[in-house]
Amino acid sequence: MNSSHTAEVEAPQAGARRIFNLISAELGLVEEEFERQARSNIQVIAYLGDYLRASGGKRVRPALTLLSVYAVGGDASRYNAVRMATVMEFLHTATLVHDDVIDNAVTRRNRPSINSRFGNQTAVLMGDWLYMSAFETSLAERSLPVLDILTAVTRKMTEGELLQLTLLGRTDISEEQYFDVLERKTAYLFSACCEIGAILGGASEDEQAALREYGMKLGTAFQLVDDLLDFTATDEVLGKPAGLDLVEGKLTLPLIYLLEEEPRMQSRVQAIMREGNYQRVTREELLEAVEATGAMERARRRASEFAREARNSLDRLKDSEYCDALRSIPTYIIERES
Ligand code: IPE
Ligand code: IPE
Ligand code: MG
Ligand code: MG
Repeated sequence: MNSSHTAEVEAPQAGARRIFNLISAELGLVEEEFERQARSNIQVIAYLGDYLRASGGKRVRPALTLLSVYAVGGDASRYNAVRMATVMEFLHTATLVHDDVIDNAVTRRNRPSINSRFGNQTAVLMGDWLYMSAFETSLAERSLPVLDILTAVTRKMTEGELLQLTLLGRTDISEEQYFDVLERKTAYLFSACCEIGAILGGASEDEQAALREYGMKLGTAFQLVDDLLDFTATDEVLGKPAGLDLVEGKLTLPLIYLLEEEPRMQSRVQAIMREGNYQRVTREELLEAVEATGAMERARRRASEFAREARNSLDRLKDSEYCDALRSIPTYIIERES
């Protein structure tokens, strides 16, 4: 049986376990390296760094970097690969800390977010510290191509969040505008994780391009699913507030499709945005509407399409168990519950 087939029939949880088991030693090293990179003589920084590290997270981005190193024949147990995988998690953590300020989110990974527990000022500065520490650490690699990617992705993520702010509260957003934001705020970082892994592993140009493309498609599927889960999941399962997107004025793909199918829903959607709660229009009513009109299913299909395209990009790599693991990540992402 070929590997992509295996990925499709396997239960998502089993698939995820298999992926993470393959690199569990290296991911353990990433945890240690994270702890090292978050050390500081400044007590408050050391405290917050540890607060963030201990809160966990799925560690999808370092896993992608490590698997990409291996998939092109490199050795991801080497210190520089572990160090760079940690840099990617640092960058991700910085975006989360800032994102929770922007979104007024009170929880993250089932704990109070930095902004809610320590205030916006602290969160903004801690996010900055994480960004700069990540860059400082990445300088040790002495690689301009890696730095190029890191600076570009950081700029793009900021552009994504800024662009999103300009669209807040609007119900006339096009699919194109939605994807423009999504790619910047999430997909480019996934792409950067894979491409940097490829570079560290000594990939050919074609392999590097394949992994860059894989990351882009995978990241797109990932954020699409995050946006779907915002409708369907609970706070407890997500570890962050569910249903927050619309309350914060963010129109995501299921709603873009809903308003296309059912323009009469516009005033209901606007009411949630305007009032900033689900008192007049409940979450249940909204979910029912996106399900009944097929808007949810349509958005889910889009996510699956990107997942499939991600898998297809890997056809340009040599077969290996690491490539198989990369191949099963899109399925894990599509079927994840948090
Ligand atoms: C959350 O990312 C931010 C998005 C891009 C949707 P993750 O879902 O990877 O967050 P953690 O690291 O597992 O908490
Ligand atoms: C994720 O956007 C983008 C980031 C770069 C953090 P969201 O605002 O949807 O992420 P969550 O849902 O807060 O994790
Ligand atoms: Mg958010
Ligand atoms: Mg979200």
